[in-house]
Amino acid sequence: MFSPEGPSLLELTRQAMTSVERGYDLLATKFDATPFRTSDRLLTAVADALAPLGPFDTGLDVCCGTGAGLPVLRSVCAGRITGVDFSAGMLDEARRAHPDATLIRADALALPFGPEFDLAVSFGAFGHFRPAEQRTLFHQVHTALRPGGTFAFPLPAPPPVGSAPYWTLFGFDAVMRVRNALWRPPFVMYYRTFRLQDVLRRLGDTGFTVELRTMETFGHRADGGPRCRLVVARKAMRTREA
Ligand SMILES: C[S@@+](CC[C@H](N)C(=O)[O-])C[C@H]1O[C@@H](n2cnc3c(N)ncnc32)[C@H](O)[C@@H]1O
Repeated sequence: MFSPEGPSLLELTRQAMTSVERGYDLLATKFDATPFRTSDRLLTAVADALAPLGPFDTGLDVCCGTGAGLPVLRSVCAGRITGVDFSAGMLDEARRAHPDATLIRADALALPFGPEFDLAVSFGAFGHFRPAEQRTLFHQVHTALRPGGTFAFPLPAPPPVGSAPYWTLFGFDAVMRVRNALWRPPFVMYYRTFRLQDVLRRLGDTGFTVELRTMETFGHRADGGPRCRLVVARKAMRTREA
């Protein structure tokens, strides 16, 4: 559908009619030929923005998929880098491409880590978490970070209301809601459920102190707002439990 190497429309439809985990298992070998993989342009911009925030030792890529974000961690972390994802198929691809990384199969809503990472990143996966699950996800990442650790991810601005991209994403989410009302298992993927103000509130509720950094490479919208921000959420040096 996207290129000769990418999945056909029929394959994508079959994948979307299963669960998220199974869908990615089916897509895994062709995933890197789809626009769902985070672009190198965005990954490079994130690596450049993170470099001055270090030094970092250990790094975690949450929902790593085939491992697009692992080189970002490798470029800014001196120590072990780890990717976690619940799709075995995606992890197989990541293992082939990134033999230097530790790859672990787990649900991001139940991460099997103590406070062991200095930096956690995540790319392109937040649409798979319903708003109520976002709190759990942030709590899991918070637990996996050492005191003073950083959780960073890019957050593109939504398209202007009424623009063609706005209606495309609106239409996609509407189709997914109908699909999920009629079909089991659900395939949770929504483009419009990860909104800046909600995200900031939920990160704050989890105990993070949040800073927003403009990613200048992507320029500004007509209303003057940045097209893309880097969300930098820091865990306190001393937690209340410590
Ligand atoms: C669009 S892909 C993004 C992959 C990669 N981060 C990238 O930017 O190319 C979303 C990934 O999130 C994973 N995922 C979704 N929900 C998850 C969950 N609850 N636990 C672990 N992985 C999850 C999927 O298996 C898939 O590999």
